[in-house]
Formats: sequence, C-alpha cells, structure tokens
Amino acid sequence: VLPGDGVGPEVTAEAVKVLQAAAGVLDRPLTFTEGLLGGCAIDTTGTALPDATLERCRASDAVLLGAVGGPRWDDPTAAVRPEQGLLGIRKALGLFANLRPVRVHPALADAGPLRRDLVAGIDLLVVRELTGGIYFGERGRKSDPSGELAFDTMVYTTAEIERVVRLAGRAARARQGRIVSVDKANVLESSRLWRATAERVLSEEFGDLEREHLLVDAASMHLIQCPNRFDVIVTGNMFGDILTDEASVLAGSMGLLPSASLGESGPGLYEPIHGSAPDIAGQGIANPIGMILSAALMCRETLAWPEAAQRIEAAVERVIADGIRTRDLAPPGDTGVSTSELGDRIASAVRARTAVTA
Ligand code: IPM
Ligand code: MG
Repeated sequence: VLPGDGVGPEVTAEAVKVLQAAAGVLDRPLTFTEGLLGGCAIDTTGTALPDATLERCRASDAVLLGAVGGPRWDDPTAAVRPEQGLLGIRKALGLFANLRPVRVHPALADAGPLRRDLVAGIDLLVVRELTGGIYFGERGRKSDPSGELAFDTMVYTTAEIERVVRLAGRAARARQGRIVSVDKANVLESSRLWRATAERVLSEEFGDLEREHLLVDAASMHLIQCPNRFDVIVTGNMFGDILTDEASVLAGSMGLLPSASLGESGPGLYEPIHGSAPDIAGQGIANPIGMILSAALMCRETLAWPEAAQRIEAAVERVIADGIRTRDLAPPGDTGVSTSELGDRIASAVRARTAVTA
C-alpha cells in the first residue's frame, strides 16, 4: 500500500477497510504493508521512489497506490519531483498496460454536464500504453537565440505496440468484441508505426473483433458526442492520459474511476485515475470510490479472486443506488457524507449478504 500524498492516504485507508471486509466475509486473509512514494518519500528520503519501496512492491502480489504530488513539491526547477516516483514505479515494475474502465451508474447519469441519453449505459475500457511514448523519450533543453529550446520525444517500438494491442485485443474479446486504436498517424511517425502495427496484430490475431483506427482529435470528439459507440480503446501513453480525464467526465466525477496497471508478470499496480487533489486534501471529503474500485480490479486481475471483486463492485453500486454521495456528487447545498463514512457504508455492504446479488 503506497498511500502517497494529498487525498491519497484518505482514499487508500478506505480501500484497505473494504478489502478487509471482503477478506473477513470470504475468509481469505490479506497482509498489507505500507511504503513511501512521491512527495512524502522526497521529504523523508530525498527521492520519490526509495529502493525500500520498490523492494517491498516486488515482494508483494499487488500494489495499491493512492496519488502523488502537491504544491509543496511543485517547483518546476526542482531536481526531484513526486511524479518521478509514479513514472519510476510503473517503469520499474514493467507495467506497460494501464486499464481504465469507464461505466456510468444509472443513478449518476445526470451527475455530469452531458445529457442522460448520451451517457446512460456507457461501458468502455481505455487501455493506455504506460511505459513508453513521450513520457519516456529523450527530453532536454538547449540554448536558442531567443532564449532556450525544449524538447520531448515520442518513441514507440514495434514490440511495445504489439504487446499492448494484444492485451487490449484479449480484453475486447472478453467484452463486446469491438476495439478502436487511437493515434495521430496523419502527422506523427510514431503513430504511423502504431497504426500499421495495431492493424497487423488485430487483423492477424484478432480477426473476430470489429476494429477501427481513429485519429486522437476525432476520438476526443466522438467520446463526448457518441460515447456509447466505444467498447475498448487502445492508445499511447499521452493520448490515453488525456482521453481518460475526458472520459471521467462521462462518469460524473473523476473520483469514481479506477485503474489497473499490468505487466508481463510480477505485481499489478492499482490506482484511481485522479490525482492527489491538494485543494481538498485533509478535509475528509474526497470520493474513495475510484480507489475502492481499483482494489476490486486488484482482486480480479492479480489475486484471481473474482468473488471479492464482484462483492466490492456490487457494494459500490448498492451504496450509489441508495443515494450516498461524497461532496463531489452531492446535490447543490448538500455537503454529502465524509470519505470514511462512504468507506464504512461500502464495507458494510460488502459484509451484507445482499451485496452479492445487488
Ligand atoms: C495519471 C496522471 C499521471 C500521468 C501524472 C500524475 C504523472 O495524470 O495517472 O493519469 O500523467 O500518467
Ligand atoms: Mg492523467
């Protein structure tokens, strides 16, 4: 468990609470150990990803991560930044695929800015490449007659594209059988390799799927205009980062969305897609659902424990259906329940028998 910074510790505490409820009711003990990552790690060790943290993660079956970062460490000239911890752990654990499912609960179809008829029934999965692309290419600064020049490089290899497209193809096969690969092949060379490779893998190995390639600008428009057309979206690191923030608007709140980061082998890493939200940290008002649903994904994907995943997901649905809301989703004028109260409600729904069939 890497609680991290800002609201990270608040939401991870609720995920652990809910997991412990599942462990109790399903009689499968779980062992938790904590580690430092991000700003809190910089404060105590001088580095965002201490070796001890990495060793502890490697020795675990799975990693639960809250969020990292905050204004205290935001100095753009600082040599160490919390985000290095996050990118570093993704890379060190070989977590090349980041799965970000987006579903819209019927009771929340009016929570976001889009019309209910557009968002009701959305059930899509973005598979974001996580250890390559512009996040990890060569970057730097040079002097320039006007002052300076700065550059970041978007690099993809055939092997990096193949493995994430394969993983996304298998996910689509287990879902509605439709996959859209998103790139910017009309401009970027790395995207032309992406498209050609995705097309080859999908046509040769996934002929049973309905496939399509979209440019990222068009995809971002379709995601708002007709979100229900999507099943699985597979895309590179930066496009996936941007499209999933956009997709969170469909669900009604950024605080609702979970993610799973997976590699070839070793522990999976589970984190909500939201950040450390320093503006609301320490107030007990953060929505823990994205983190709790990440714990459910952990049960399913890494612990091979679908009973727990179903129970937790059903408990979240029940509590949402019952109208229990943190402030992000509460009606105007209503402060909603606290982070830990929502966690308590979900934990008791996990323990309740009815949770299984909810
Ligand atoms: C995310 C976040 C991170 C990313 C940041 C905090 C480095 O936005 O997980 O989506 O860009 O990957
Ligand atoms: Mg992001």
